Amino acid sequence: MHQRSLLIAALLAGVRAQQAGTMEEEVHPPLTWQECAEGGECTEKSASVVIDANWRWLHSLEGSDNCYTGNTWDEELCPDNKACAAGCALEGADYAETYGITAEADALTLQFVKGENVGSRTYLMAEDDESYQIFNLKNKEFTFDVDVSKLPCGLNGALYFVSMDADGGQSKYEGNKAGAKYGTGYCDSQCPRDLKFINGEANVEGWEPSESDKNAGVGGHGSCCPEMDIWEANSISSAYTPHPCDSVEQTMCEGDKCGGTYSETRYAGTCDPDGCDFNAFRQGNESFYGPGNTIDTKSPMTVVTQFITADGTDTGKLSEIKRFWVQNDKVVANAESNVEGVKGNSITSEFCTAQKTAFGDDDIFAQHGGLEGMGDALESMVLIMSIWDDHNSSMMWLDSTYPEDADASKPGVARGTCEPHVGDPEKVEGASGDATVTFSKIKFGPIGSTFKAPA
Ligand SMILES: *[C@@H]1O[C@H](CO)[C@@H](O)[C@H](O)[C@H]1NC(C)=O
Ligand SMILES: *[C@@H]1O[C@H](CO)[C@@H](O)[C@H](O)[C@H]1NC(C)=O
Repeated sequence: MHQRSLLIAALLAGVRAQQAGTMEEEVHPPLTWQECAEGGECTEKSASVVIDANWRWLHSLEGSDNCYTGNTWDEELCPDNKACAAGCALEGADYAETYGITAEADALTLQFVKGENVGSRTYLMAEDDESYQIFNLKNKEFTFDVDVSKLPCGLNGALYFVSMDADGGQSKYEGNKAGAKYGTGYCDSQCPRDLKFINGEANVEGWEPSESDKNAGVGGHGSCCPEMDIWEANSISSAYTPHPCDSVEQTMCEGDKCGGTYSETRYAGTCDPDGCDFNAFRQGNESFYGPGNTIDTKSPMTVVTQFITADGTDTGKLSEIKRFWVQNDKVVANAESNVEGVKGNSITSEFCTAQKTAFGDDDIFAQHGGLEGMGDALESMVLIMSIWDDHNSSMMWLDSTYPEDADASKPGVARGTCEPHVGDPEKVEGASGDATVTFSKIKFGPIGSTFKAPA
């Protein structure tokens, strides 16, 4: 009797939940990476990746009716946030067939358009395949190879870290029964409001379908957290960018108070949506990165990022984010900034302050904690690899002139050689659906352990 009432209680509890579907088994594509030790000896980790919940088929718990189609919610299954989470299930994914995601040994390839699907976002799982792999990046070095040769203007093949919960928020929010296994719990420094679930609840209340994106919309809630963009790039331009937030953990925000790209008020939130970016072209070296340039994007390259602390310990204050490149066995230092008043070839507090002044931007980065705040968040981070196009500004902030009506000779306006609007989603989705990015040979360890540093 007691056993039985416990079981019923458990079943009832289970009903109030963002559920996991049972029609297609969720099998994560396997991906290996290397954890390196002082001296450079590396150990192989057998892990996998998981696709984010937003891309999945969301259907009725008991059947196969869509809870969400295109960019609208089913009014009966999803009358409000809680009922929707209780009555809808996220389904397992066919990674290669539906999403164009393929993994082979240490390499992950993401195809831009596959059938009806556009873009994807994947998270590295821990070896147990139950939770996301957590990285503490302070006083550490992160290295990977990337092939952007098939990634044109307007696309972004991104590798970055955000401070998501390791279990996707499953233990914090009883409404979330799907957990990391189904790619839940996303957050970033734009406090995205296009997520279908946040904190174990749906985001149907206040949802406005997008006018330009047949697969997306903006809901009443957003999901904020610090973001460390190690790599936002295509074959024309690349940038690395810390984005701190007031809280080092994921937090839910309300409506336009979220700030970021999805809100009317960009700077209203608790995160820094702009960040402090290092893009060689924007810093005045137009021949450093690109096809046929110093770093030639026609071939794969190795990208090294070092998170240096002031006292050289894992708990010290973050003082510098340093970049090296390796191509054809040659280690290349990052480009030096050529912008008047902005010195250096790495991200430091001095660089960021000088850059904001030179480009005439408000220092939102410093207002939300700056480099030190970013460092606090780096102690617990999840690795993301994604491919996307940009419905808000056609990726012009990365590879073209932006703001588009600004004078391109003014410092900070020119970011790459792409013509404005070649990255408009309807154009790139039509013309460049077969574009891909391949990330491989991920290595992580103490400074100097993942590549042969210059003497
Ligand atoms: C760009 O960077 C490369 C490599 O550091 C350097 O050789 C070149 O002189 C730089 N160009 C400019 C205009 O600064
Ligand atoms: C981008 O987003 C901002 C904030 O919501 C909005 O004001 C702007 O109109 C958007 N631009 C485009 C082209 O969608």
